[in-house]
Amino acid sequence: MRLAFLGYGNVGSAIATAAARAGHDVVLATNPDRPDGAAAAIARNPDLAAATTASAVEAVTTADVVVLAVPFGSLDTLLPTLADRLAGTIVIDATNPVGPGLTHGLGSQQAGAQHVAALLPDARVVKAFNVYGFENLSTPPTGPDGLRAVMPFAGDDADAKATVAELLVQFGWQPLDVGPLAAAVDLEHMTLLWVRLVRALGHPSRLVWAALGDDRA
Ligand SMILES: NC(=O)c1ccc[n+]([C@@H]2O[C@H](COP(=O)([O-])OP(=O)(O)OC[C@H]3O[C@@H](n4cnc5c(N)ncnc54)[C@H](OP(=O)(O)O)[C@@H]3O)[C@@H](O)[C@H]2O)c1
Repeated sequence: MRLAFLGYGNVGSAIATAAARAGHDVVLATNPDRPDGAAAAIARNPDLAAATTASAVEAVTTADVVVLAVPFGSLDTLLPTLADRLAGTIVIDATNPVGPGLTHGLGSQQAGAQHVAALLPDARVVKAFNVYGFENLSTPPTGPDGLRAVMPFAGDDADAKATVAELLVQFGWQPLDVGPLAAAVDLEHMTLLWVRLVRALGHPSRLVWAALGDDRA
């Protein structure tokens, strides 16, 4: 598959690394505010040696899957410029709306992923990759006997979720379907918990969740 990344920072680069290692084509969309940034991200990451750069419009037009990994605050400006091009495309929303004092940035009234879906009404939005720090996203931690960590995901389009689940398996995760896109608000709260545990309380950044006893997960 061809995966386009909007955002090539901590999160975008880590997921792009996993995608490239799994044999997918990776294209990093350039940020018009910093035109050389995407090429620089490729140059410093040997796993991305075969990756390319393109304008956001070009990148998403040729992609099977688009990964959103930009600051939540930039979505309102960025996504309307791409909405037509993203009709029918799977969009993985890895962003998190975070408010002051480590609160949900939309007051828990609506998932950030639902906000994304409202900005991209014809895209097939799936929330994933948001509940852990970026440190875990290129190479997931494993438990005893190869136990895989779960990556929860949410969305309303069954086919899109099946594709994302397949990617998660390829990247080393145990996919865990948590239901419709509205459930993404719970995943965004899981983020807040992870950040509190790791960034405030000092737990190791490789802290991830496992779904013990769930043989469907
Ligand atoms: N950090 C984490 O551990 C973590 C974990 C899970 C989810 N998240 C979420 O993932 C998202 C990205 O976080 P991050 O830590 O990767 O941030 P980051 O390191 O600051 O990277 C943000 C990326 O977005 C690009 N960007 C910003 N505005 C843009 C625009 N208008 N058009 C195109 N590209 C633009 C930046 O480009 P330049 O570098 O050129 O400015 C950069 O590549 C956030 O929503 C965050 O809440 C973060």
